[in-house]
Amino acid sequence: MLKTIKAHDLGIGMYVILTQGWFKHPFLKNKFKINSEKQIKEIIDCGIVNVVIDTDKSSQTDNDINLPIPEKWEPKKLIPKEFRDVINDKNFPPKEKAKFVYKSSIDIMNKLLKSPTVQNIKEFKEGVSDMVDLILTDNITSQYLLNITYHDHYTYTHSVNVGVYSILLSKALFKNSAIHDMHELGAGFFLHDIGKVRVNSAIINKQGKLTDDEMSEMRTHPSLGYDILSEANQLSEECKVIVMEHHERYDGTGYPLGLKGDDIHLYARVCSIADVYDALTSKRSYKKKLKPFDALALMKEEMMNHFHKEIFDEFVLLFK
Ligand SMILES: [Fe+2]
Ligand SMILES: [Fe+2]
Repeated sequence: MLKTIKAHDLGIGMYVILTQGWFKHPFLKNKFKINSEKQIKEIIDCGIVNVVIDTDKSSQTDNDINLPIPEKWEPKKLIPKEFRDVINDKNFPPKEKAKFVYKSSIDIMNKLLKSPTVQNIKEFKEGVSDMVDLILTDNITSQYLLNITYHDHYTYTHSVNVGVYSILLSKALFKNSAIHDMHELGAGFFLHDIGKVRVNSAIINKQGKLTDDEMSEMRTHPSLGYDILSEANQLSEECKVIVMEHHERYDGTGYPLGLKGDDIHLYARVCSIADVYDALTSKRSYKKKLKPFDALALMKEEMMNHFHKEIFDEFVLLFK
């Protein structure tokens, strides 16, 4: 029997059905049996007030007494243990694995951007390594990852999307060549906008177009990001150059340095294509989001001077 109860009245053993959208909660599935107080807290923390329970599948109902099971205390870590466990679980279904990894990455990125400490950047790099290995070795899960990307206006979602697209594009371009350190590259792609944490948040969150002054401040984020990663001293120069040059344009019209052609680092040229594509396919307060095909068509027809043609052509092939 299905029954609606308050989230606060949930107990361990209850079989819960979350009717909210997949992105409204941090769980892999919408239906599952509650097995810890932590899960109840997570449901309440994401703003869910009422939940549906299936009393037939519950090993207790709200009439039973809830005895909390004490959880082992662990220091807060940026990358949860399950992240690596799921990635390395060969029996995990690819579609579910892609969903879990994507949602976890967004959560991790959100936490990192709120607290970009040296320790967190170090941990983040380790987490990215697992993600890169997954994309390099598991084509089926990678394809699901490409297809489930979600588009909103948050920097953390955008950062994960650009990371996923850029790693896939690098995989296609470099074919696992040993010359390119994909782990370093991956970190650079995911962190390309980290400099935005030092830009005035009123500018980052502004609804509508930026004024010239605001745009000037926004345009400092590549060099601010470079500074953050230099201070943290956890990543290579090649990774930092992605952060510094991802807004440079092939025809020299980009910023901050106005570099042109192959003077822009190869990895930054890769990142810039993924970056523009994700911006076009994401909703902004002042513009509608474009469908993938329309975004690629616009880039080809109106922005082609901004990109390295061969790299762009390879990017289009990812979506075929
Ligand atoms: Fe950027
Ligand atoms: Fe970006």
